[in-house]
Amino acid sequence: MSNVHLRKLCITRGSNEIIRDLDLQIEPGEFLVLLGPSGCGKSTLLHSIAGLIDLSGGAIEIGGRDMSHADPSERGIGMVFQSYALYPTMTVEKNMSFGLKIAGTPKAEVARRVRKTAEMLQLDALLERKPSQLSGGQRQRVAIGRALVREAGVYLFDEPLSNLDAKLRAELRRELKMLHQTLGSTMVYVTHDQAEAMTLATRIVVMQAGRIQQIGTPAEVYDLPANRFVAGFLGSPSMNFVEGSIDAQGCFSAGAITLSLAGGKAAAAVTLAARPEHIHVDDNGPLHATVTLVEPMGNHQVVWLDCSGQALSCIVHDARPLASGQAVRFAIDAARVSLFDPKNGQRL
Ligand SMILES: Nc1ncnc2c1ncn2[C@@H]1O[C@H](COP(=O)(O)OP(=O)(O)O)[C@@H](O)[C@H]1O
Ligand SMILES: [Mg+2]
Repeated sequence: MSNVHLRKLCITRGSNEIIRDLDLQIEPGEFLVLLGPSGCGKSTLLHSIAGLIDLSGGAIEIGGRDMSHADPSERGIGMVFQSYALYPTMTVEKNMSFGLKIAGTPKAEVARRVRKTAEMLQLDALLERKPSQLSGGQRQRVAIGRALVREAGVYLFDEPLSNLDAKLRAELRRELKMLHQTLGSTMVYVTHDQAEAMTLATRIVVMQAGRIQQIGTPAEVYDLPANRFVAGFLGSPSMNFVEGSIDAQGCFSAGAITLSLAGGKAAAAVTLAARPEHIHVDDNGPLHATVTLVEPMGNHQVVWLDCSGQALSCIVHDARPLASGQAVRFAIDAARVSLFDPKNGQRL
């Protein structure tokens, strides 16, 4: 397993500067997830690590060696693309072994690696099939296998599960996590899916418009978002944002919503953010609202409230009957809220 260090990376495509002055240190054995909305530069960044896109500035070090301008084949990486990119006329076995054969790997070694990888990915029974005879999940397993047989220092994944249906996606996600636990390899994984990022990552890099917004463990970026963008991007339903002020006693207020914040500093304008799971519908709660919508989710309900014009989503963990129009009382867990500067969106 290798480290990957990106220093002052700049990438320009056409006249667009996609990435500017990006620094990132990926440690050996990490499962690092690049998370961000479509178009924010995730694939560009990943492809530059793979050597498929030229740098306009900065440096890439892989496994302790400067690889800024090295040929993709010299970088010691294995890559899995979103569109499986399998050779349609070749069998599964050929798809997996082709790259190794081209690289001049001895026949016996190729056979050993294909056998071992096929076993790991439960492809042993499918080695003689062509891609057209496989399901979507099996095809993506072959694409993963083709990267793994390289026994590379770093594996790069570009949204490898986004072509699969929800159930299969969750299944393969677990397989990938098991695979990382087994191999302990360095993995860099691109996704716009926050559930994938949260479940797979040892660290998440949240990106927006070519810039890193926050780097941290899943718990860090979820519980302590560095800015309003990160707060809004992670979590479903999204965090509730309430614009208000904090008085000299540390009490937040916004219309009918008041909340005493321990250590809250006075502010004329502040954005309070509360996760739906930290808003509790509770007969003894100090705040009043009307239910506007109930979304039953099986093991919980997402309940939308209207508190004097402020919409709030909250999670109710039991199946208690709640209906639109119903008056309820609720409480916000003051210890779990985040505060942001409404001007620049930064965490306060
Ligand atoms: N070949 C290209 N030429 C010019 N701009 C490109 C090219 N490829 C991608 N881009 C632009 O770069 C930005 C980042 O793209 P990309 O890295 O694919 O984003 P992501 O993978 O996060 O969805 C987008 O605004 C996209 O339009
Ligand atoms: Mg992409």
